[in-house]
Amino acid sequence: MICLFTDLSAVIDLEEQLRLKDTLARLGELTAGLAHEFRNGLATVHGYARLLNLDTLPPQERTYVEGLRAETEALGQVVTNFLNFARPTQLAVTPVDLGQIAQRVAEELQADVTAHGGRLVVGGTWAVVDGDEVLLRQALSNLARNAVEACAGAGIVPDVRIEAMPDLAAHALRVQVTDNGPGIEPGLRDRVFRPFFTTKRDGTGLGLALVQKIVVTHNGRVHAGPGPGGLGTAMQLTLPLPELLPKVSV
Ligand SMILES: Nc1ncnc2c1ncn2[C@@H]1O[C@H](COP(=O)(O)OP(=O)(O)OP(=O)(O)O)[C@@H](O)[C@H]1O
Ligand SMILES: [Mg+2]
Repeated sequence: MICLFTDLSAVIDLEEQLRLKDTLARLGELTAGLAHEFRNGLATVHGYARLLNLDTLPPQERTYVEGLRAETEALGQVVTNFLNFARPTQLAVTPVDLGQIAQRVAEELQADVTAHGGRLVVGGTWAVVDGDEVLLRQALSNLARNAVEACAGAGIVPDVRIEAMPDLAAHALRVQVTDNGPGIEPGLRDRVFRPFFTTKRDGTGLGLALVQKIVVTHNGRVHAGPGPGGLGTAMQLTLPLPELLPKVSV
């Protein structure tokens, strides 16, 4: 009798990546047109609301017009953010030193972290990946910002780490953003990547959806899990490393 065991994780990962890419592409096509029309309509309503002269209106009607202006402005912002997210992404691929990007992200957030008495450190072993520098920076920045916001929102002094470790067997770089915040309930760990999922009063819920889109467009994966020792959150990215062998043209 011969028993054959095959590890299908890589195939399953690839299928999941393709499914996500397909969903994102369809979402982009379907909704970008609608959102565009919606934004034009909103701009018209907002324009009319601005044309109304508050000084000539009875006091109780002024609040209605002010409400109209504020709501249409806020909705316009949501639609703009959504359009930025749903628009098909064109990658400008170059070799990117991800460690340097992580340092820059940390520097940007340092003031905010220090204001809460916490710390944000970059560590581990980094590598150069082939990717879009602007988008990869945006992805790391969203993850680190979420980590700081999660701690600050729960009144916890932030202890955030952005660490990397090459996984040579998988030919990938694993990047982790960990925090000591309140964590994400296991049942919500997939839902946090959906567009508009937010638990923050002024959040748009597009941060992680954008991170997932960026990572998947780079043929990588992102996953939310518990932080070290089961406390807080660990956001794990896996990005493919560039081919080691030089390309041979025949
Ligand atoms: N590190 C974290 N710890 C705990 N919860 C998190 C963490 N990161 C994300 N979340 C949860 O996932 C939700 C979605 O995050 P996402 O970045 O997509 O949107 P947001 O941060 O709420 O809004 P935005 O990014 O648009 O300002 C958050 O509202 C929060 O509930
Ligand atoms: Mg966010």
